[in-house]
Amino acid sequence: MTAPLIDPFQRAVTYLRVSVTDRCDFRCVYCMSENMTFLPKKELLTLEELDRMCSTFIRLGVRKLRITGGEPLVRRGIMTFFDGMKRHLDSGDLDELTLTTNGSQLHKFAGDLWKAGVRRVNISLDTIDPDKFAEITRWGRLEQVLRGIDAAQEVGMRVKINAVALKGFNEDELFTLAEWCASRDMDMTWIEVMPMGDLGNEDRLDQYWSLKDLRARLAERYTLTDLAERSGGPARYVRLEETGQKIGFITPLTHNFCESCNRVRLTCTGQLYMCLGQEDMADLRAPLRASAEGEGQLEEAIRAAINLKPKGHDFDYSRQRTDGQMSRHMSHTGG
Ligand code: GTP
Ligand code: 5AD
Ligand code: SF4
Repeated sequence: MTAPLIDPFQRAVTYLRVSVTDRCDFRCVYCMSENMTFLPKKELLTLEELDRMCSTFIRLGVRKLRITGGEPLVRRGIMTFFDGMKRHLDSGDLDELTLTTNGSQLHKFAGDLWKAGVRRVNISLDTIDPDKFAEITRWGRLEQVLRGIDAAQEVGMRVKINAVALKGFNEDELFTLAEWCASRDMDMTWIEVMPMGDLGNEDRLDQYWSLKDLRARLAERYTLTDLAERSGGPARYVRLEETGQKIGFITPLTHNFCESCNRVRLTCTGQLYMCLGQEDMADLRAPLRASAEGEGQLEEAIRAAINLKPKGHDFDYSRQRTDGQMSRHMSHTGG
């Protein structure tokens, strides 16, 4: 038996998030600048290398694999990778194969993703107002994403909408979004905006809308029941009794959930980030390329990296500053 991956704080690492590309067809204001420079394509892990990385993690006890980006569905040939991962679902070694996407390409891929075993998808959508959508994503068109959502639901996937809570931007859509999701039988999760990315022209503090406040406003209209269930990620859920739907809260700022962290993140160039909010990382590409399957170098490098997993992030706005800020873009590690 292979020993599971346990970090220095006795947390088992069972969830791997993989960013398969840093590119994206949108330019969300809290994520990227408009003129982002992307990595040269030759830096990327090949699809075969991505497969070997993920398969090694699964052998070491990872049970949940989430594919992210950038926008994962703009990576050329990505379905080959998904199709390959299906074998781990079939063998029972993997519980869930899923992705977080902006939805722009989902109308093309929903059917194939379903065939590869994807049963649930998280779609980032901060507003259902077409003009505001174009404003926040800069390059995105709401219509296209809605088509993607339709396609995913038509093939039978469970859809969860992720919205970043943004002061003065989607505050007025708190109820509209909840009701829209309920009417389409979708769950949703609100996320606190984190001080990441190019903060030159942006001030996260001005954008920050705390989920404590959001939750209180939701409770003015609905009866909220706390749920014990977890989806394996950091969200904590409530049920709105009036609509029956689940609403999740991801609160890196108001309530730190790091003590129960079960995940690490692989970038498209093969670096392993042990925490979204810290610089600590380990290069896995070199050991991968230097050794053949089964030689052990990659496994050793992974174990060494997990031993360096930090306790948590240091994001903090409470002093009216963006403490714990990261210059890294979210698209690099995939959120
Ligand atoms: P479920 O499987 O549905 O629970 O998904 P998830 O919440 O694990 O994944 P998703 O990609 O939907 O995550 C939503 C967002 O939560 C990410 O894009 C990040 O912004 C944030 N997030 C996820 N994991 C972490 C984490 O470990 N630390 C922090 N600070 N934020 C995280
Ligand atoms: N803070 C919080 N969430 C962010 N995302 C991107 N940038 C940020 C940020 N600064 C979210 C997107 C998407 C996921 C990939 O990461 O909205 O849901
Ligand atoms: Fe693209 Fe997602 Fe970043 Fe928006 S948040 S620019 S959709 S990677």
